[in-house]
Amino acid sequence: MKIAIIGTGNLGKALARGILNTNGATSMVLTKRHTSSIQEFESYGNVTITTDNRLAVQQSDILIFAVQPSQLKTILTEVNDLLEERHVVISTAAGCSIAFIEEIVGPDRYLIRAMPNTALSVGSSMTCICSNPKGEKRVALAQAIFERMGHSMVIHEELMQAATVVCASGIAFWMRLIRATTQSAIQLGFEAREAQELAVYTCRGAADLLVKSNSHPEAEIDKVTTPKGCTIAGLNEMEHQGMSSALIQGMQRSFEKISNITREQL
Ligand SMILES: NC(=O)c1ccc[n+]([C@@H]2O[C@H](COP(=O)([O-])OP(=O)(O)OC[C@H]3O[C@@H](n4cnc5c(N)ncnc54)[C@H](OP(=O)(O)O)[C@@H]3O)[C@@H](O)[C@H]2O)c1
Repeated sequence: MKIAIIGTGNLGKALARGILNTNGATSMVLTKRHTSSIQEFESYGNVTITTDNRLAVQQSDILIFAVQPSQLKTILTEVNDLLEERHVVISTAAGCSIAFIEEIVGPDRYLIRAMPNTALSVGSSMTCICSNPKGEKRVALAQAIFERMGHSMVIHEELMQAATVVCASGIAFWMRLIRATTQSAIQLGFEAREAQELAVYTCRGAADLLVKSNSHPEAEIDKVTTPKGCTIAGLNEMEHQGMSSALIQGMQRSFEKISNITREQL
């Protein structure tokens, strides 16, 4: 696969690393206006680093646009006349709809939207993917690329904003939960470093239990709650203090905010 990343910033670099470290491309072109921060990729033999987006399009089949939403229209317009049947256009720009992209490049292109999260940089992203009707034939290809760096799910485009809250902002929400558990573990007697290790690996274990046993959180909770025991006492106190409600309301607030931001930007 000949892959170009147009706009190799934070996300683009994580993508490039993930693809190159798993031998996922026969060649890669990485673009950016100021290329000094991506020179490290020269050590991979099959990588071209350039400021020339048009060259990247000419030399590649899969084009991943990882630029800021406000930059996408200008850059797509710059390369539009070079797009051919072989090209698959993948955009990670938050809030830029398929209709918005089709207005620039037309509906007769393979168009994919992808919403990864920052865990892409450690190969553990939850990436949501949708496409235009023509792009459906290339969704499996897009999944194969992003699954080199984690897990993927194909969703309807109208759920893309919600996916941004659950998965991209979700990283921040889970970090706060891990921090709170760490603070509590310190109060219970552990050193800060030990406390974080306990919190992180317990969190990973809980997620792995659900992934590997394909069970429901309440089924796993039932296994650790003895009648009149300490776990149910702690859980019920957390619920009295509004834990589930706070999370649900916070995510609803994030969703309202992202919907307003998108309306203002595009
Ligand atoms: N970071 C994440 O985890 C994440 C998750 C989901 C979605 N997203 C979305 O992915 C996109 C990228 O996010 P990011 O965090 O990687 O942003 P970023 O770090 O700002 O990267 C964007 C890159 O685009 C480059 N760029 C700007 N104009 C360009 C041009 N004309 N030609 C070529 N390159 C150009 C910029 O570098 P120069 O200024 O040097 O050109 C910059 O490094 C955003 O739309 C964001 O909403 C990000």
